[in-house]
Amino acid sequence: MINEYVKNLTEKSAEFSLPEELIALRKFYKDSGIPTILDESLSELLLTVAIKSPKNILELGTATGCSGTAMLLTEKSANLVTIEKNVYSQEEAIKNFKKFGVYDRVTCVLGDSYESALQIKGEFDFIFLDCNKASYSRLLPVLKNLLKKGGVLFTDNVLFRGYVSGEKEPPKEYRSLARKIGEFNELLAKDSDLITCFFDVGDGIAISFKK
Ligand SMILES: C[S@@+](CC[C@H](N)C(=O)[O-])C[C@H]1O[C@@H](n2cnc3c(N)ncnc32)[C@H](O)[C@@H]1O
Repeated sequence: MINEYVKNLTEKSAEFSLPEELIALRKFYKDSGIPTILDESLSELLLTVAIKSPKNILELGTATGCSGTAMLLTEKSANLVTIEKNVYSQEEAIKNFKKFGVYDRVTCVLGDSYESALQIKGEFDFIFLDCNKASYSRLLPVLKNLLKKGGVLFTDNVLFRGYVSGEKEPPKEYRSLARKIGEFNELLAKDSDLITCFFDVGDGIAISFKK
């Protein structure tokens, strides 16, 4: 009951902190089965961005550019580098970045998250990790290198439908992925360079601070 109450309020917060047009676009993608961060998780993401006020954001998993746009509308002086492997998603994202007037602050990278992250030069004070979940563990040391001291790593889907914690038994096709996300969570929790908290919000969120 209480959880549902908190969830509804948190979802509402995302709805009221963004332009109506972006809310409608997110709804359209959601209804069409196109992946985008859940409302509740988006609120948490935007809250973290607003508190941190990052200047340089790295996003892994651009999709249609909704989360990237929302972060840039929240932090007006931030720049975004965003990685996506699907060319059609990237084209859609570019259209959306232009539509919401943030394209001049975006660098779109087309490619695999791990290979692209290895090539990226520079430092970031905020990283949003939201791409292929099976690669999270492999990405962690690379992302830690790209993250400034005092920077924040925000990871989505760390509970993956309840399959990671054992709350629900994963179907056969998701067993390996659930195990890999669990391994990543352990890495995060045990990393002495990071302070990490896990939140039962949306599909599960981890927020890590680099000491
Ligand atoms: C959950 S969606 C991202 C949603 C987006 N952050 C948002 O909230 O609007 C995950 C995205 O990661 C992309 N992706 C999957 N595997 C990838 C890989 N190996 N490298 C880069 N991107 C990948 C998918 O194509 C998809 O667009």
